[in-house]
Amino acid sequence: MQALEGRVAIITGAAGGQGRAEAAAFAAAGATVVATDLSDDLVAQFADAGSEIVGLKHDVTREDDWQRVVGVCLERWGRIDILVNNAGIYRPAPLLETDAASYDLHMNVNARSVFLGMRAVAPAMMEARSGTIINIASGAGAKGTVGIFAYSTSKWAVRGMTRSAARELAPFNIRVNAVLPGLIDTPMVSAREGREAFIGKVPLGRIGHADEVARLVLFLASETHSYITGAEIPVDGGYSA
Ligand SMILES: NC(=O)c1ccc[n+]([C@@H]2O[C@H](COP(=O)([O-])OP(=O)(O)OC[C@H]3O[C@@H](n4cnc5c(N)ncnc54)[C@H](O)[C@@H]3O)[C@@H](O)[C@H]2O)c1
Repeated sequence: MQALEGRVAIITGAAGGQGRAEAAAFAAAGATVVATDLSDDLVAQFADAGSEIVGLKHDVTREDDWQRVVGVCLERWGRIDILVNNAGIYRPAPLLETDAASYDLHMNVNARSVFLGMRAVAPAMMEARSGTIINIASGAGAKGTVGIFAYSTSKWAVRGMTRSAARELAPFNIRVNAVLPGLIDTPMVSAREGREAFIGKVPLGRIGHADEVARLVLFLASETHSYITGAEIPVDGGYSA
C-alpha cells in the first residue's frame, strides 16, 4: 500500500515551484490532490495531470474561497486528510523601504492565509479524529534578517501559529508541523539579488531543489510519522546549522 493511498490533500500555491513538486509527490504516493492556485490559468495545467490531481482556483487570502475548496473536497470525497499551506509571496525590502501596503500584503498572503486554511479544514479533521497540516514557513522566519523585513515577519508568524495549532489540535489526533526551506530553486527566487553569495554560505554548497522540499512534506504527511507534531524542520543544505 502506498503512503498516502485513500487520502485527500489540499496543496495551495500548487502552480509554483514547490507546490507543483508536492502535488506530484503526493499523487505518486497515492493521494487525491486538490491543487489550488490564484487563477484558472494557473490551475489549468493540472487538467492533464491525471485524475488524482484536481486543479481549483483559490485565493488563499479569501475566506469564501477556503469555504468553497473545503466544500468541494467534502462533497466529492467526504474527507480532508492533509492540508499543505504552501502559497506565498516574496517582495524583498528593508524596514525603511517597506510601506504599510507591502507589509499587509505579506501578512495577508503568507500568514493570515495559514490561519484561514487551518481554521477551514480543522472541523472536518476533528470529526474524523485524524489529519495533518504542513505549513511552509522559511529559514527567513527563524532569525533576524536584512532586506526582507515583511517577508521574514510573516514567516515568524507562521511558526507561531503552527505551534499553537499543534497544541490545540493534538487532542483530536491532528498533527501540525512547519517546514523551513532555505534557498530553493523556484520562480520565487530565480532573480533574487545576492543569490550566488547566499549559496556560498550553504554548507552543502548549492541551492536546494523543489523535490527535496516535497520529500520532506511527504514525510510529514505520512501517518508513519504519527508522533511528530509542533515541529519545525529546516530543509536548507545546513544553512541553519
Ligand atoms: N524558494 C525559496 O527559496 C523559498 C524559501 C523559503 C520558503 N519558501 C516558501 O515556499 C513556498 C512556496 O514558494 P515557491 O518557492 O514554490 O515560490 P513560487 O513563487 O514558485 O510559488 C508560489 C505560488 O503561490 C501562489 N500564490 C501567491 N499568492 C497567492 C494567493 N493569494 N492565493 C493562492 N496562491 C497564491 C503563486 O501563484 C505561486 O504559484 C512559499 O510559501 C515561500 O514563501 C520559498
